Amino acid sequence: MGNNKELRIGLIGCGLMGRIHTNGYKRANDFFPELEYRPVLKAACSRSEEKVRAFAEQWGYESYETDWKVIIARDDINAVDICTPNDMHAEIAIAAAEAGKMILCEKPLARTLPEAQQMVEAIEKAGVANTVWYNYRRVPAVTLAKQIIDSGKLGRIFHYRANFLQDWTINADVPQGGTATWRLDAAAAGSGVTGDLLAHCIDTAMWLNGGIKDVSALTETFIKERVHQETGKVQKVGIDDACIFHCHFDNGALGLFEATRYARGHKALYTFEINGEHASIRWDLHDMNRLEYFDHADDSIVRGWRSIHVSDSDQPYMDRWWIPGTSIGYEHTFLHHVADFLKSLETGEPCSPNFREALETQKVCQAVLDSAADRSWKNTDVEWNKKQKAGQEPVLGEA
Ligand SMILES: NC(=O)c1ccc[n+]([C@@H]2O[C@H](COP(=O)([O-])OP(=O)(O)OC[C@H]3O[C@@H](n4cnc5c(N)ncnc54)[C@H](O)[C@@H]3O)[C@@H](O)[C@H]2O)c1
Repeated sequence: MGNNKELRIGLIGCGLMGRIHTNGYKRANDFFPELEYRPVLKAACSRSEEKVRAFAEQWGYESYETDWKVIIARDDINAVDICTPNDMHAEIAIAAAEAGKMILCEKPLARTLPEAQQMVEAIEKAGVANTVWYNYRRVPAVTLAKQIIDSGKLGRIFHYRANFLQDWTINADVPQGGTATWRLDAAAAGSGVTGDLLAHCIDTAMWLNGGIKDVSALTETFIKERVHQETGKVQKVGIDDACIFHCHFDNGALGLFEATRYARGHKALYTFEINGEHASIRWDLHDMNRLEYFDHADDSIVRGWRSIHVSDSDQPYMDRWWIPGTSIGYEHTFLHHVADFLKSLETGEPCSPNFREALETQKVCQAVLDSAADRSWKNTDVEWNKKQKAGQEPVLGEA
């Protein structure tokens, strides 16, 4: 069984996230050698035996399974990583919690708020370590933005603006459902861009700027019918292709969010900008190692937007990587997450965002979809502590 400092992983789902998480598991201890815990790739699971066998061989898993319930039942596995489409998250997470496994779950936590609530209940009852892969928090430039905001340099925050733009579903021939296009099938995904893209923007926004209090949203489904890959029939499309919402934050700031898969020319343009009383910050996933910063306190003759290349060893996570001036990539955000999760097992502190925090994002997503459905403002009922102190993780559950 190995020693108790092993994170003995059963990975369920071997697609995009299965690969990127595995990369993180394999390299985390190389770059964070002080960690007591060490991931061990026990088993990979996917439905096609041929594919999962090849995946396990390529990535170095000791074994493979085709039924996720076997992963949960195996007593040589103590951590379950959920990398399946959204419709499987709740069932797997609840079963894994009941079996006493640690759980690392992809985002969005669930398809709907009630599903997410059941998951949080199960996991808290079981008392198992858990985290949700909202990886953008661990982009060094985004973590630096958090440190700058928490230091108070921006002063009072007036505006939070975020976009997540893609263009891959414009063609009406793209099917819905099945492998690769499950994101277009409401039954599998829960929602369209709201759960897929805006969930990231909302998680980052509440981490940086506190709770979102209420929302008013607009959604559109541009292509109303698509062939379903599993039935072969032309069926109504149930997801939101695009979503725009505005909101109030608990701190009084106004928020403006947009996500779409119909912005021709954009593949994954995630950007945010925050405007405060003294300073502003902006970030762009396409140039993810840079943080732009404007400080009104600068001498007026040189005042302007600074472009900070976040690569120095005194900037977040960067003491682990190469030399100042060189860059890291998307995959490193997941590696950072693995390292932080392993560290949390040593300290006993939650690895943020845990399921309870991810539930807050789910509440906002639900309010956004409900608001778009009946065209009215909706309270989110998020419990992000309005009085959270600079530099502290959010404390949930306080009035
Ligand atoms: N954190 C991020 O930035 C990020 C990025 C992409 C996807 N995601 C999330 O990760 C999850 C997976 O997305 P993906 O892009 O990797 O999808 P994908 O389609 O690339 O892979 C999904 C995998 O799950 C497997 N699978 C489906 N049903 C299964 C079942 N019943 N049992 C076992 N395996 C099953 C599929 O065979 C496939 O290997 C989704 O929840 C998605 O929202 C998060």
